[in-house]
Amino acid sequence: MAQTRIAVIVGSLRKDSFNKKLATAIAKLAPADFTFEQLRIDDLPLYNQDDDGNQADSVKRFKAEIQAAQGLLFITPEYNRSIPGVLKNALDNASRPYGKSAFPGKPAGVIGVSVGAIGTALAQQHLRNVLAYLDVPTLGQPEAFIQNKEGLFDASGAIGEGSKAFLQGWVDKYVAWVKRHTA
Ligand SMILES: Cc1cc2nc3c(=O)[nH]c(=O)nc-3n(C[C@H](O)[C@H](O)[C@H](O)COP(=O)(O)O)c2cc1C
Repeated sequence: MAQTRIAVIVGSLRKDSFNKKLATAIAKLAPADFTFEQLRIDDLPLYNQDDDGNQADSVKRFKAEIQAAQGLLFITPEYNRSIPGVLKNALDNASRPYGKSAFPGKPAGVIGVSVGAIGTALAQQHLRNVLAYLDVPTLGQPEAFIQNKEGLFDASGAIGEGSKAFLQGWVDKYVAWVKRHTA
């Protein structure tokens, strides 16, 4: 079975990150011909334009991983009503040097979980703005602003019963979105 490769970029470096957990749980809701790989971003240098002609090996690896994927999945917390700096740093690194961005045309999903009541809504809107500039088409609907509450995950780390139908619906639309761009 031909595999559709999805590069997953999580905007939290925290060991017990809810967003990492969501990334793992979402992958389990996708069909068998979709493969999800969480990309490493914690070893990317702070972006410095002086390095454009001599990018670090970690940046080259990250860009190659994005380019090898048919789709992208961004799963991010909200930090101070925006995206975490580590995520913006990853986007900046992989978008350069000018004309050599890894991103153009890769279809993406945007989702996230936070403790706040608006469940990463503002972070997602800021991220969509950056992705629009990077020529990354993002799934518009359904939106998924997830608040971390008791029962979001079950004991095995899978999505709990209360949120399963909603997130399965989101994943189904995301899968169709990627297929539309890769057909
Ligand atoms: C620097 C910082 C800023 C935060 N700002 C927000 C915020 O604007 N909105 C929100 O809902 N939660 C905010 N939080 C709480 C996060 O939602 C919470 O820490 C969450 O667990 C982070 O995601 P993670 O579990 O994937 O690391 C913030 C947390 C930190 C550390």
